[in-house]
Amino acid sequence: MLISVIGLGRLGLVHAAVMAKYGHHVLAVESSSARVDLLKRGELPFYEPNLDLVLLEAIESGRITFHNEHPEESKQAQLHFICVGTPQSAQGEQADTSYVFDAASKLAQFMSPKSVVVGKSTVPIGTARGVSDLLENLTGSKRHVVWNPEFLREGHAVADTMRPDRIVLGSESKDAEALVLEGYKQIIDLGVPVVSCDFQTAELVKVSANAFLATKISFINAVAEVAENTGANTELIAEALGLDDRIGRKFLNNGLGYGGGCLPKDSRSMKHIAEQVGAPGLANLLSSVEAINVGRKERILELAKQQVGDLTGKRVAVLGAAFKPNTDDIRDSPAIDIAQRFHHAGASVVIQDEMAIENVVRELPHFDAVVSPDEALAQADLVVIATEWRSYAQIDPSEAGKLVSHKNLILARKVVDEKLWQGHGWNVKALGRS
Ligand code: UGA
Repeated sequence: MLISVIGLGRLGLVHAAVMAKYGHHVLAVESSSARVDLLKRGELPFYEPNLDLVLLEAIESGRITFHNEHPEESKQAQLHFICVGTPQSAQGEQADTSYVFDAASKLAQFMSPKSVVVGKSTVPIGTARGVSDLLENLTGSKRHVVWNPEFLREGHAVADTMRPDRIVLGSESKDAEALVLEGYKQIIDLGVPVVSCDFQTAELVKVSANAFLATKISFINAVAEVAENTGANTELIAEALGLDDRIGRKFLNNGLGYGGGCLPKDSRSMKHIAEQVGAPGLANLLSSVEAINVGRKERILELAKQQVGDLTGKRVAVLGAAFKPNTDDIRDSPAIDIAQRFHHAGASVVIQDEMAIENVVRELPHFDAVVSPDEALAQADLVVIATEWRSYAQIDPSEAGKLVSHKNLILARKVVDEKLWQGHGWNVKALGRS
């Protein structure tokens, strides 16, 4: 099929590259000319494991081309995927859909009556209907719209796009849905289930999924608060809970809480929807979920004060800046959140990250930012592990002890063996333990 993909961010670029890998011809459209130039050279604007290989293969096959605006060829495309961002709006908790409507209005003149707009962006309820109405107004006749939320995880985006857990299609037309299913034929042939529904169900599935994941994380973090006060071990509780396959072990890692471009924004957006439609039960639940998430960061400051007293002038090494490992994304990162809190408490903060440091330097120039853990540890009064990079497990606590001023360690994420560090004279505090 000839398809267009609009918006080449962490969602759209992966989608475009994978669609090309599955044999489609992809017109990849992105409004940032700097990004288009980069992509034409085969370079990536962000880090995502394996995306470089898939993209290079797509470019070499000639099945993907990059454009600043829709080329004339877009008129022949059967599917147009809208993958633009929907950041949290400056006014409140609702997602900002202006990029979606902007993309749809630019698309109108390139749509044939049979082609389908496939919305993949995460949007509030009513957006798909709004896009459909807008296209009808601009073209003078009804146009096909299908809402098809995306569930990929950063760090696993290529694999998740190649074989998602499910495909959700919200639509009002069986013909439109059939065309999207044809586009996804190879994926469906892998046995991936399809859920067909209306627009608002598709829109709500997406924010519900992220709000549920946020709730699961906050649940174990709330249990961790109890464990901290009773001497119980949160990791063993999670292990035991997870052995019940109705609960499952995934997303029960206690620690600094959730961050990133999606879980915080989408659970706030879901809370906003609940408030708007008068569903206080969900709104209150998600308020608590968010409060627990914030509470974990405050707890780190308490632990730090127990270890070093007044933080003014203390050197704090924050190991990790990315909101989770295997990405360079620092949006709403819990690691950055605590670094800011230490900074505001008067500490001198150095942040280390193996992948995200360029983003720290660009967006948070007031921090010392380094790539090597050894540099970060030098003269530190306190070390905080804030992102679960596996490489931290390789740090030798004995050698690390020679670099720091004081051997204080806080495990905000569990990635090293605390007993090993304690054995080398480190004063270790971990979230979820008394
Ligand atoms: C999330 C969802 O998992 C995807 O399904 C969804 O498609 C995506 O948002 C999106 O809406 O685009 P992602 O933002 O990549 O994916 O991050 P997650 O893997 O969900 O992790 C979110 C945060 O939760 C991270 O800060 C992570 O460290 C934290 N987390 C995760 C925990 O604190 N504990 C856990 O047990 C799991």
